[in-house]
Amino acid sequence: MSKKIFSGVQPSGNLHLGNYLGAIKNFVELQNEKNTECIYCIVDLHAITVKQDPQELKKNIRETLATFIASGLNSKKSIIFSQSSVAAHSELAWILSCVARIGWLNRMTQFKEKAGKDKEKASIGLYAYPVLMAADILLYDTTHVPVGEDQKQHLELCRDIAQRFNNEFRSPNFLKVPEPMIQKNFSRIMSLKDAKNKMSKSDPSDLSRINLTDDKDTIINKIKKAKTDTMPMPDEKEDLKNRPEVLNLLEIFSCLSGNSIEKSKKQFCGKNFSEFKEELSNLLVEKIEPISNEIKKLLDDKKNLDNILLEGSQKANEYGEKKIIEMKKIIGF
Ligand code: TYM
Repeated sequence: MSKKIFSGVQPSGNLHLGNYLGAIKNFVELQNEKNTECIYCIVDLHAITVKQDPQELKKNIRETLATFIASGLNSKKSIIFSQSSVAAHSELAWILSCVARIGWLNRMTQFKEKAGKDKEKASIGLYAYPVLMAADILLYDTTHVPVGEDQKQHLELCRDIAQRFNNEFRSPNFLKVPEPMIQKNFSRIMSLKDAKNKMSKSDPSDLSRINLTDDKDTIINKIKKAKTDTMPMPDEKEDLKNRPEVLNLLEIFSCLSGNSIEKSKKQFCGKNFSEFKEELSNLLVEKIEPISNEIKKLLDDKKNLDNILLEGSQKANEYGEKKIIEMKKIIGF
C-alpha cells in the first residue's frame, strides 16, 4: 500500500537540532522511499497563535524553507508550501472545531505549557491550535505523520476528531485516521543546559540548543559548555535514568552516527568526557555545518524560495479544494 506523508514545522526562527533529528531528517528519508508521497508544510497560521512581527515572520518563513531544502528536501519530489497559501486549512479547521469537544482540548498539555499561568490572556488560536493541526493532516488523506514525541498528544486528538466526524456524518473512512511516526532511538532531544527541558527555540539561552544555522566554532563551543556530571562515561549496561544530560548527548551522538545507544556507550566506556565531547562536536560539525552553509546560500536568492512555495501551494490547493468540496456535500452545505 502506498503511504501519504504530511508534516509541518512552525516558522518561528532558530530551527534546531531537535527539529532536525525529531522531524526534518525523517522527512528527507521518507521523501526518498518508494510508493510514498510527501507533503511538508510551513505552518505560518500556527505561528500567529502568539504575537509575531510581520517582517520577522516573512524572514522566518523563507528561513524554514531554506532549512528544508538545505537538509535535503527536494521540491520536485515533495510538495512544500506555506499553510496560509491554502485556504482549505482554515476552512477545515472551522468545520473540525465544531466536531472536537472542549473537554478534549482541555487535556492538551502543550496549551497548558505555552499559555502559562495566565490562561485567560492566551489567544483562542493558541487553544484551538491542535484542531488546525488536525485539519492540516486530514485535508490530505494522510496515512503517516512524522513528528517528534512532543506532538504525540496532538496526533491522538487528530485521530479522535477524524473518527468522530466519520461517525457523526455516517461517512466511514472519509477522513483517514493517520498513524504517528515517531523516532525510535530517542524520545526528545533535550536542552544542552538542563535535560529536564526539551531543546526548544523559545529557550532564552542560545547555549541550550544547536541551531541549524550555527557555524563550526559555535557548535564546538556549545558542546564544550554542555552540562554533564562528575561521573565517568557509562558502560554498556548502565541505566542512565538519573544521568539525563549524559543520556541526551549519547542519544544525539547515536542518532547522528546511525548507531544504537549501546554501541555508543561501548565506544566511549572508560574514556574521558572531553574525548566524547570532541567526537560529538566533530560529528555535529560534519552533519550540521553543510546545512548551515547551504541555508545562507539559499537565502541569497529569495525569488527562488518564493517560487518554490508558490509551486507547492498550487499542488496543495488542488488536493485541498477537492477534499473540501466532498466534505461540504457530506455536511449538507
Ligand atoms: P514545531 O514547529 O514545534 O516542531 C517541528 C517538529 O520538530 C519536532 N521537535 C522535536 N523533536 C525532538 N526533540 C525536540 N526537542 C524537538 N523540538 C521540536 C516536533 O515534534 C515537530 O515534529 N504543531 C507542530 C507543527 C504542525 C504539524 C502539523 C506537525 C502543525 N501542523 C501537522 C505535523 C502535522 C509544531 O509546533 O512543531
